[in-house]
Amino acid sequence: MENLTIRRMMPEDIPIIAAWMITVPLWQRYGLTLHRAQTQLETAFHHGDVLQVADLPDDPACGFAWGILNGAFGRSAYLRLIGVRPGSAGRSIGSELLENMEGVVSAVSDSLFLLVSDFNHDAQRFYFRHGYQQVGSIPGYVLPDVNELVLWKLLRQLQGG
Ligand SMILES: CC(C)(COP(=O)(O)OP(=O)(O)OC[C@H]1O[C@@H](n2cnc3c(N)ncnc32)[C@H](O)[C@@H]1OP(=O)(O)O)[C@@H](O)C(=O)NCCC(=O)NCCS
Repeated sequence: MENLTIRRMMPEDIPIIAAWMITVPLWQRYGLTLHRAQTQLETAFHHGDVLQVADLPDDPACGFAWGILNGAFGRSAYLRLIGVRPGSAGRSIGSELLENMEGVVSAVSDSLFLLVSDFNHDAQRFYFRHGYQQVGSIPGYVLPDVNELVLWKLLRQLQGG
């Protein structure tokens, strides 16, 4: 997308992102609060996780992606969260963030895992279009009445070991 830039998250982005995260219906269903959103991102920042931010000229920090290297089985990268401010969804910002994250983590991991809620059909379509496949499902893992689908994408040929 023209004029979209992706860069590393800075501490000053966190309050801006947390403020719109709590307006995302998905995360409201998971009981996200402003305090929890801020704390999660601050903790990730201090752990040195991969935190990428999308900026539009008139809409700074309108999207983000959080990846954890070796976050899946101590062996593969895990996409912990990805989100776009609701008013900016459907404009390819999420696609750019996902492709950027895949590029960053592929330097150290041959694949990327993520969880998606069974009811989040829009996001499932988004991931399938980007080459992810469902490799499992975890019933009631986060919310008692929701299955978390385990999605996986091979980023480059497996090295073994
Ligand atoms: C999922 C998400 C990151 C996609 O980013 P995006 O910039 O909206 O997506 P793109 O424009 O690159 O791609 C469009 C696709 O994203 C998905 N999408 C669009 N709006 C969405 C929304 N509000 N919620 C979930 N998925 C959405 C659809 O599959 C859409 O494809 P379609 O045109 O066939 O409907 C973003 O919509 C979002 O933050 N959604 C809410 C939070 C969420 O579901 N995060 C993922 C949890 S695993």
